[in-house]
Amino acid sequence: MRDRIKVNFKTGKPPLVVRSRVALQQQVGAWKAAGETVGFVPTMGALHAGHISLVEKAKENAARTVTSIFVNPAQFAPGEDFDTYPRREEEDLALLGAAGCDVVYLPTVAEMYPDGSVTDVRVNGLSDLLDGIYRPHFFYGVATVVARLFLHAQPDVAVFGEKDYQQLQVIRRMVRDLGFPIRIIGGETRRDHDGLAQSSRNLYLSTDERRAAGALYAALHRASVRLSVGALPADVRAEAHALLMAAGFKSVDYIALVDPDTLAALPDDAPMAPGTARLLGAAWLGRTRLIDNISVSR
Ligand code: PAF
Repeated sequence: MRDRIKVNFKTGKPPLVVRSRVALQQQVGAWKAAGETVGFVPTMGALHAGHISLVEKAKENAARTVTSIFVNPAQFAPGEDFDTYPRREEEDLALLGAAGCDVVYLPTVAEMYPDGSVTDVRVNGLSDLLDGIYRPHFFYGVATVVARLFLHAQPDVAVFGEKDYQQLQVIRRMVRDLGFPIRIIGGETRRDHDGLAQSSRNLYLSTDERRAAGALYAALHRASVRLSVGALPADVRAEAHALLMAAGFKSVDYIALVDPDTLAALPDDAPMAPGTARLLGAAWLGRTRLIDNISVSR
């Protein structure tokens, strides 16, 4: 089924809304038959400037752009925020229209997980570290839905935000292992004035929490500067933890210095070796879990 939506677009034209796999494949097939490449941006909606920058990146790298909006039940554990996750279809469509996205794919749960569906994709190892320790179901749900979305959209290029750095590495690995003919591109994290990484979950923050939230980036940034001049990772991680607690965070799941590709932890008791690493953090501000990451060079 395809329908044009009626939204008050300030610029650009309304994107075509497609709700079924078959309709999406027809549209993508027509583009490809005309020799056009397809860029894809999977999202869960509640779009912000970070998402729109991913759409812009897809447009730079392909002739046509598809964005999906699907709040994927498989990546939420019972008790997590699936029910309350922000859903803003009208606003999202207006933003995507203004950004010049060609098609928005809005599948139902039944379209993504047909009745009786039992096939999962598991990227072992990478999915079990860092966030995978705190959200053991999460990357399995992500890999499963992204594999299905790739089969529905059949893109040449797909763009994922570096804000979810571990997710980006999991997807890269899945694409390599399963031989998807798709080029994965990482999109730079968009930040608010105080460095807070833009995220749909920032909508959960109270005014006071929002004021404190910039401390996550500030702590990671300070840590990256210290690591780059040879401070011990153990000391730097402890300091970042203390900074977050002093700023009003409730708890810190991890501050971790890792290899940027394998996500293996780097030694804690020796200065970082020359080269590049990734510093990742996850911490709770009230009932909101924030994640962020930063590149570290020495
Ligand atoms: O990053 C997200 O928004 C989601 O994890 C994704 C990649 C759209 C899969 O549901």
